[in-house]
Amino acid sequence: MPVGDNGSEESGSGGVAGDVRRMHPLSRMREPGHRYMRICAPMVRYSKLPFRELVRGYGVDLAYTPMILADVFKHSDISRATEFRTNAGDSPVVVQFAASNATDLGDAAELVARHSNGVDLNCGCPQKWAVAEHIGSYLMEQPELVRDMVRHVKARTSAVKMHDGASFPCSIKIRVHDDLAKTVEFVRRAEAVGVDWITVHGRTRTQKNTESINVEAIRIAKSSVGVPVFANGSVFTVEDADRIVSETGTDGVMVARGLLENPAMFAGYATTPLACVQRYARLAVAYGTTHFIMHHHLMFMMEAGMSKAEKRLFNCLPSIPAVLEYLEDHYGITI
Ligand SMILES: Cc1cc2nc3c(=O)[nH]c(=O)nc-3n(C[C@H](O)[C@H](O)[C@H](O)COP(=O)(O)O)c2cc1C
Repeated sequence: MPVGDNGSEESGSGGVAGDVRRMHPLSRMREPGHRYMRICAPMVRYSKLPFRELVRGYGVDLAYTPMILADVFKHSDISRATEFRTNAGDSPVVVQFAASNATDLGDAAELVARHSNGVDLNCGCPQKWAVAEHIGSYLMEQPELVRDMVRHVKARTSAVKMHDGASFPCSIKIRVHDDLAKTVEFVRRAEAVGVDWITVHGRTRTQKNTESINVEAIRIAKSSVGVPVFANGSVFTVEDADRIVSETGTDGVMVARGLLENPAMFAGYATTPLACVQRYARLAVAYGTTHFIMHHHLMFMMEAGMSKAEKRLFNCLPSIPAVLEYLEDHYGITI
């Protein structure tokens, strides 16, 4: 895997970096006094190496990569060189794949197993193109296929053992079905085949992110299995996180938009502190983030505190130097 700028890539089973990769991604759950897992969600374009490093610095326990297409990853040098950049500090990290068959997922998992702390199968992406490709939420209607996929990951990564003796972790991220009995059946079958944990986004595949989540569905999914279950959907504050964990009995939360808007959320900040904006700008430059993605991240973080005129101005900034100049002029932020 390509390396990030602030650390060397692991060299397999030996050495410090190799040890880091063999830490179980949920090991924080076993630490005394740890309340619940705080997970940064997979986000296409956004949950990349610099953002993962940023949120870990503010209390995130585990971070996911953006969804990566398993078949493209295994066939394309460019995909492998660009879609999963990591370094020794990027741990624990779970690589999320979208796949339509067991072979692609198993091959992709084998490729990343020594460079990550686990893989996740996306069973929730609702977009039409994804369903047409038989990936994402299409898999919610295919429990036998998911069973084969998980089995295959476990077989292809059987040489990789975690420090605690566990096999290389494989999780799934699902949405809920219209018929909750199907969700219960789905999570039970996934558990039976060896999935290590399950993240439940409390919306069906036809619901928009603006609609409220089905807390009861997440609670029922959690109570149907013994493996850890994480709740996902509309957590924007620590209070939201506390509430959903206590209402669902889950083992933690996964957060997407809440962390984009305020990466320091889990450190107790109500809005993004300037120090966090500065830290992100430094990381983005150090890691060679594109102007497009850096600009988007900064807009997510700062939007709430900007006037319409400021947003208009910020949106027109054409380059990274122009963005950095804006940060210095308006907020006194230097990198
Ligand atoms: C910009 C963006 C990109 C996303 N990309 C992915 C992805 O790659 N894989 C995935 O499983 N879900 C993806 N999602 C869905 C989120 O992981 C999450 O399930 C959803 O946004 C609900 O959580 P939230 O209310 O905390 O945002 C994405 C969401 C957003 C906003």
